[in-house]
Amino acid sequence: MEKKKLSLAILISGGGSNLQAIIDAIKNNKLDAQIEVVISNQVSASGLDRAARENITTYVIEHKSYPSRGAFDQAMTQVIDAVKADLVVLAGFMRILSKPFIEHYQHRLINIHPSLLPKYKGLNTHQQVIDNNDKFHGASVHFVNQELDSGPIVIQAEMPVLATDNAETLAARVLIEEHQIYPMVIQMIAEGRLSFDKNQLNLDNEPLTRPLCWKDNQLT
Ligand code: GAR
Repeated sequence: MEKKKLSLAILISGGGSNLQAIIDAIKNNKLDAQIEVVISNQVSASGLDRAARENITTYVIEHKSYPSRGAFDQAMTQVIDAVKADLVVLAGFMRILSKPFIEHYQHRLINIHPSLLPKYKGLNTHQQVIDNNDKFHGASVHFVNQELDSGPIVIQAEMPVLATDNAETLAARVLIEEHQIYPMVIQMIAEGRLSFDKNQLNLDNEPLTRPLCWKDNQLT
């Protein structure tokens, strides 16, 4: 009997290039997963077109149509649970989630953030890297907990900041790295390699004491 694929609900707000990277990884047999649904809180998100091109079910759930964050999150929960998603993947989803939502998907909710966390939580990460003359920048994939951009980190992609970089060039280079590491983490979850012992994240049943590092196209 064929093994059941990891079923994904992917939440987006914009371009959806990370969604595309996940779609491509599935198509190229690098990811044993199935996208059950894509939800956007923005009707104009071009990631919706990427999903529609692949005949993936899409929902637009506009946060502004709901009286509260909780009501908006509840509407998303109904859709996600109706498709019985194993994992909720935030892929450029630009809304803060409510405590009950995060609790409901505890250890089944991941995010990609464009910085070397714990540096630069929140917005405008690339500009802050430039303003602070940082030598390195990157992206982090982490499980979501109740604090913004603070849950256990699985992997970080790290790259040098060039003297010629500005926020736009950095953002573009970081995205290329994001597209490598996000499907990689989802595949680790699909293979059952990431688990929790209370709040301790384990990789292959050993505590992951520091994030994996993706650098120069290699995992270290
Ligand atoms: C990505 O850089 C992602 O890390 C970032 O938004 C971009 C979405 O790009 N996410 C956040 O800043 C979340 N706090 P995409 O829509 O092309 O995948």
